[in-house]
Amino acid sequence: MQTRERHSFSGSLGYVLSTAGSAVGLGNIWRFPYLAAKYGGGAFLLVYILLAVTFGYTMIVSETALGRMTRRSPVGAFSRFSSSTPAKAGGWLNAVIPILILPYYSVIGGWVLRYLFGYLRLSGGTMAADGNFEAFIGSPGMSVLWFVLFAFATMAVVFAGVQGGIEKVSTIMMPVLILLSVVVAGFSVTRPGALPGVSYFLIPDLSRLSLMTVVAALGQMFYSLSIAMGILVTFGSYMQKDADIERSTMQVEIFDTAVAILAGLMVIPAVFAYSGGTPEALGKGPALMFVTLPKVFFSMRGGAFIGALFFALVFFAALTSSVSLAESAVSTIEDELRLSRRPACLLLSCIMLPLGLLSCLGFNVLSGVTPLGMDFLSFFDFMTNSVMMPVAAAAICILVLRCVGVSRMEEEVLSSSAFRRRGLYRFILRYVALALLAVILVSSAMDAFGIIRI
Ligand code: PHE
Repeated sequence: MQTRERHSFSGSLGYVLSTAGSAVGLGNIWRFPYLAAKYGGGAFLLVYILLAVTFGYTMIVSETALGRMTRRSPVGAFSRFSSSTPAKAGGWLNAVIPILILPYYSVIGGWVLRYLFGYLRLSGGTMAADGNFEAFIGSPGMSVLWFVLFAFATMAVVFAGVQGGIEKVSTIMMPVLILLSVVVAGFSVTRPGALPGVSYFLIPDLSRLSLMTVVAALGQMFYSLSIAMGILVTFGSYMQKDADIERSTMQVEIFDTAVAILAGLMVIPAVFAYSGGTPEALGKGPALMFVTLPKVFFSMRGGAFIGALFFALVFFAALTSSVSLAESAVSTIEDELRLSRRPACLLLSCIMLPLGLLSCLGFNVLSGVTPLGMDFLSFFDFMTNSVMMPVAAAAICILVLRCVGVSRMEEEVLSSSAFRRRGLYRFILRYVALALLAVILVSSAMDAFGIIRI
């Protein structure tokens, strides 16, 4: 039910800033470097970029155009074109994913906050000490405390409806984050022993390419660009009819990928310089950024200050993303359960706390419980990004192909853009998207259940 008046962006800048605010977050700074380190460095980067400019582009354009056409969030947009049960399920799937990502996203947000306060209170040496990170996540009280603080900050912003304010803050902070990242990356790549790391990350070695590289890169692309989570449909629905969808999509992609590459340049060469670039060091996973960056800061002059500044900036980038996740979840709850904002926020918090708690406790009290052989945080990350997101993306493609029609989508885009990549768009949608999604889904499911090792 759309009873409230629909908010709308003032121009294409509003769309680009909000989409970039949602896109640039922990996905770029925390998740991208550890995946690139683990899954083949340059080979991963190459696959990622290829996927982003073809498949990612097609998905962003489709979701945005769907939103602008229907002026609805995902559940409403799907039901506008079909009342069949699969279409309903597709809409809901897109809406449920943010609800499942938000809790563990807030756990990582809590890690960032803890590092920010760590740099304000303790010495750079303490933060960089071996085992500091493990001791932190190993303590149930500490990790839960910081998770709750981050979750509270997110919900406070959504509840008070002050996204506008925080988006303004982040438009100022974002350029500072990029500048600082350039400085830190410059420092990191010039450390003795860092050069092999630079070439590992930037020069694709195709012998490192595996099916898992593609699976991980695709999941990362969805995650980082906020695709298949209803968010872009919602932002599209706020977009004005004359805003250029094609150009805005390209701007968001370029910006998002640039931040990810910078983060890779900060972290990966440092793994080589400080930990020797062994497969074990490169495969550290979610801990990677929190273990290597403090070592970089520690060897910089004024490193404690730079560390504090860096984590403060990452905190804001993470907050704009978590707010967009929560906002999309809250607006679905409001629309579909016909609740007002306060109960909708309360309901979301009640879902978020137990799920986030599981992710925190998976590293300590519940470390013996390993669904599919993973800790809880990795399990939620895997289920949402490698299992549910391909299905949600397929639902969007099928809706467009079967119910809306590719030509109707093209008309929507053409009404305000030159749409130069129209041929590519059509080709990917018709012949590539579903096949690729099916391969990804089947192989990641088989990997999870131990049927094949990819
Ligand atoms: N794209 C965000 C990031 O890279 C995460 C996110 C996913 C935000 C989905 C909103 C929706 O951190």
